[in-house]
Amino acid sequence: MIKKIAILISGHGSNMEAIVKNCKNGNLKNLCEVVLVLSNKKKAEGLKIAKSYGIETSYIISKGKKRKEFDIELINYLKKYDLDYIILAGFMRILSSEFINEYKNKIINIHPADTNKFQGLGAYEWAFENKLIETKITVHFVDTGVDTGEVIGKCKVDLTDAKTLSEIKKRGLKVEHKFYSEMLKKIFEKNS
Ligand code: GAR
Repeated sequence: MIKKIAILISGHGSNMEAIVKNCKNGNLKNLCEVVLVLSNKKKAEGLKIAKSYGIETSYIISKGKKRKEFDIELINYLKKYDLDYIILAGFMRILSSEFINEYKNKIINIHPADTNKFQGLGAYEWAFENKLIETKITVHFVDTGVDTGEVIGKCKVDLTDAKTLSEIKKRGLKVEHKFYSEMLKKIFEKNS
């Protein structure tokens, strides 16, 4: 059965775009369908990108709202889509237990570091400041902690001779774009 997924974003959405492309013509073809791309920011660049692929988009503004208030609004909004999975792709919000429990073991995130070593925002900045010669990308299920959920997979990023933060991000995102879809494929096939 083809999985119905929603992708939640906050910004550029390059991971979202990679998944969308793979659903249309890559390794996720016939495994999942992106039925919605939703942002917590009205002006998220990724919304325009998703629209250009003919995907339904929406936003629910989170600014000024309490965590639980926003999450309940989101739960109510998503109900009509009958989703199998929620895919976080640069969604820069911590989700409350109300939301996590509504989609237990159905929320997947990509984190641009080894979740054992660095959690939260600024993972590439952390790699840069610590002059790492290698970092990792983690794809994991989301639980009520910050980047503490069950790991689906980790992938190395070679940072040898990467002298600037933008070079680190460039190398990391290149790995993210391929690796996220590979891990989604693994989960969707396992639970098909
Ligand atoms: C990606 O590097 C993603 O791993 C990271 O934000 C970026 C979003 O880029 N996510 C986190 O840091 C989550 N804690 P994108 O919008 O171009 O996909």
